[in-house]
Amino acid sequence: MSAAPPVIAIDGPTASGKGTIAERVAGSLGFHYLDSGALYRLLAWRALADGVRTDDGPALAAVASALEPRFRAGRVELDGVDVTDAIRREEIGRAASQVAVHPAVRQALLDLQRARRRPPGLVADGRDMGTVVFPDACLKVYLTASVAARAERRHKQLIEKGFPANIDLLSQELRARDQRDSERTASPLKPAEDAYQLDSSGLAIDEVVAQVLDWYARRDEG
Ligand code: C5P
Repeated sequence: MSAAPPVIAIDGPTASGKGTIAERVAGSLGFHYLDSGALYRLLAWRALADGVRTDDGPALAAVASALEPRFRAGRVELDGVDVTDAIRREEIGRAASQVAVHPAVRQALLDLQRARRRPPGLVADGRDMGTVVFPDACLKVYLTASVAARAERRHKQLIEKGFPANIDLLSQELRARDQRDSERTASPLKPAEDAYQLDSSGLAIDEVVAQVLDWYARRDEG
C-alpha cells in the first residue's frame, strides 16, 4: 500500500497571513493547496443567498453536503458563478465564522477537505487542519500576528479588491471573530500540541515562507 501524500497544516487566526504563506509554500514544493476557510465562506455565501439562517445547523449541513465548488487558476466558482471576490467580503467572513460553529457543518465539510490530499502533497490552511482534518500532517504550523498587524493586512487586501474598509472597525471585527473561533466547542481555534508556533507580526512574507520550508526540510530530524 502506498503511503498517504504528505500534508503541511498551517493554522491560525483570521488575517494572520496563513493563506499567502500556504499558497507560496505549496507553489515552492509543487504541492496542492487547500484554503479551508474558502469552504466555510462558500457555505455562508450560499446560505445567505438562499435565505438559510446561520443558526440553523441541520439546514446548513444539508447545504454544505451539496456544495460543489470548482477551484481553478486561483478562482472559485459555485454553480457556474465566479464568487472569488464576493466571498472575501467582511460580512461573508463573519457569517462563515457563525456557520462554522455547528458540528454537523464541520462534519459535512470533512470529506471535501480530505479529498484534496493528493500526490505529491498538500498544504492546507485553516483553523483545525493540524488538530482535526489532518491530525497526521507531517508538519504543523500555527501562525499568529498582533491584532494591529492583522487589521492592517486585512485593510490592504480589502482596499485592493475595491471594498470599503476602516482599520478600527476591522480590529473590532477581528477580535470578535477570534473570540467566536476560540470559544466554540466544535474544533475551537487552538494550536495542535505538536505545532511550531510563529508570530509573523514583524516578519516579511519571504521570511515566513523560508522558515516553513526549513521546518519541512528538517521534519524528520529531532
Ligand atoms: O480563514 P478565513 O477567515 O477565510 O475563514 C473564515 C471563517 O471560517 C473563520 O473565521 C472560521 O470561523 C471558519 N473556519 C473554520 N475552520 C477552518 C477554516 C475556517 O472554522 N478550517
